[in-house]
Amino acid sequence: MPSADGTASRRAALQMLDAVLRNGRTLEAAAQRVRGLSAPDQGLAVAIAGEVLRRLPDLDALIDGATRQRLPDDSKARMVLRMALAQKIGLQTPDHAIVATALPLVDGGPRRLVHGVLGTLLRRWVDPSEAPRLPAAVEERWLDAWGNDVVEAARRQIAQRPPLDLTFASAEAARRYAAENGGVSLAPNHVRLGESGAVPALTGFSEGGWWVQDLAASLPARLIPGAAADVLDLCSAPGGKAMQLSAAGHRVVAVDASDSRLQRLAQNLERTGLSAELIRADMLKWKPTQEFDAILLDAPCSATGTFRRHPEVLYRARPAVIRESAEVQARLLPRAAEWVKPGGTLVYSVCSLEPEEGEAIIADFLAGHPGFQLEPGDLPDFVTSTANGHVRILPGVLADQGGLDGFFAARLVRGSA
Ligand SMILES: C[S@@+](CC[C@H](N)C(=O)[O-])C[C@H]1O[C@@H](n2cnc3c(N)ncnc32)[C@H](O)[C@@H]1O
Repeated sequence: MPSADGTASRRAALQMLDAVLRNGRTLEAAAQRVRGLSAPDQGLAVAIAGEVLRRLPDLDALIDGATRQRLPDDSKARMVLRMALAQKIGLQTPDHAIVATALPLVDGGPRRLVHGVLGTLLRRWVDPSEAPRLPAAVEERWLDAWGNDVVEAARRQIAQRPPLDLTFASAEAARRYAAENGGVSLAPNHVRLGESGAVPALTGFSEGGWWVQDLAASLPARLIPGAAADVLDLCSAPGGKAMQLSAAGHRVVAVDASDSRLQRLAQNLERTGLSAELIRADMLKWKPTQEFDAILLDAPCSATGTFRRHPEVLYRARPAVIRESAEVQARLLPRAAEWVKPGGTLVYSVCSLEPEEGEAIIADFLAGHPGFQLEPGDLPDFVTSTANGHVRILPGVLADQGGLDGFFAARLVRGSA
C-alpha cells in the first residue's frame, strides 16, 4: 500500500520530474536516485511522473487556460498542477486525494494560487485527448521528416501503454506459448501479450525460453543470414540481439563498453541458456583478431523510437544530442565495416526516429565505401523496405495490434574480393 497520506510518492514524483526535465536524466535513473520509499510508493511516483511526461504539452494548455497569471515553465506550482492532472487522467485518483496531496508540496509557496487553479481545473473537467500533443520541437521535426500521419500516429501511441513482446529461442516454443497463454504471434519466434505486468512473474520466465524485446528491436538480428556463422555483435548489451543470434545457432562474440550492461547480458545468457563470448571494450579502440561472416552494429542513439515506454526521450533528445549521437555513429559504422569478411553482411540499426541517425548515416557510409551494397533481407510481412533498401519502422505500423517502437535498420553486403 502507498504511504498513509500519499505525499511521499508525490514528493518523489516531483524530484523525478525535476531530474528528467532539468538535468536530462532518464526516468529510470531518476527513480533509482530517490531513496527510502516503499515499493508501492516508488511505483506510484514513477506512474505519476510517466503520465506527466506522456501528456505534458496538453497538461500545460489546460493549466494555462485556467489562470490569467502565467506560471513559469519550470515553477514548482506548474509541476504540482501537471502531476495533479496526470493523476486525474491516467490513474483515476479521486479529486479529494489529488487536492490533499498537491497542496503540501507547495507549502511556503503559492499554495492559494495552486488551490485556486486546481479547483477550476477539476470543476471544468473535460475528457482528455486520446492523441495528446508531443513536444512542439519533436512535432516539427517529425512533420518535416515523416509527415502528418506519422505525427498523428505518434500522438495516439504516446497515450497508450505498449503491449509486452517476447522473443523466443525457437519458433515452435513461441507458437506453443501463444496458444497456451492467450498471446498473439506476429512473426516467427515472437509472442505479444496484452499486459505488461511483472516480467519475472510471467509463465516460463525462470525456464528461460524467452526474453522481453520489442518486436521492432528483433528485426535487425533477423537480417543476419541464417546459416551458422561467426557473428560479431557490437554494442551488444543487455543482449536481446545477441540472444537471438545465439539461438539461431551462430557463434557470437558480443562487445560492449559498459561493465554494468555486460553484467546484465551475462545474466540474460545464463537465464536463457544461450551463449556468447563477452568482451568489454570501446569498439573505437578495440580490434578483433579475425574477420566475421556477419556483424551487427546496434549503435547508441537518441532512442526516440522508444518514446512509448520512455516518454522522456522526447525531452532529452535535443538537436545537439541528436547531432552528437550521429557523429559517433558515423565513426562506429566504418570501423565495424573493416571487420566484415568479403561477401559478408553488416547490419546497422538504431532505435531512433531521426533520419540523421539512420538514413543519413547509411548514405554517407555508402558514398565512402563503394565495396558495400544495400540488400533487403527477409522480414515479416508487416515490414516494408523503403525504396532504397532500408527498414524503417514508423509510428502507425501495426497500430491496430498495439504498434511497434520506432526503428531503423540497414543490411549492407560486402562485395567479394
Ligand atoms: C542500443 S544499446 C544496445 C542494445 C543491444 N544491442 C541489445 O539488443 O540489447 C547501445 C549499447 O552501445 C554501448 N556502447 C556505446 N558506445 C560504445 C562503444 N564505443 N563501444 C562499445 N559499446 C558501446 C552501450 O554501452 C550500450 O549498451
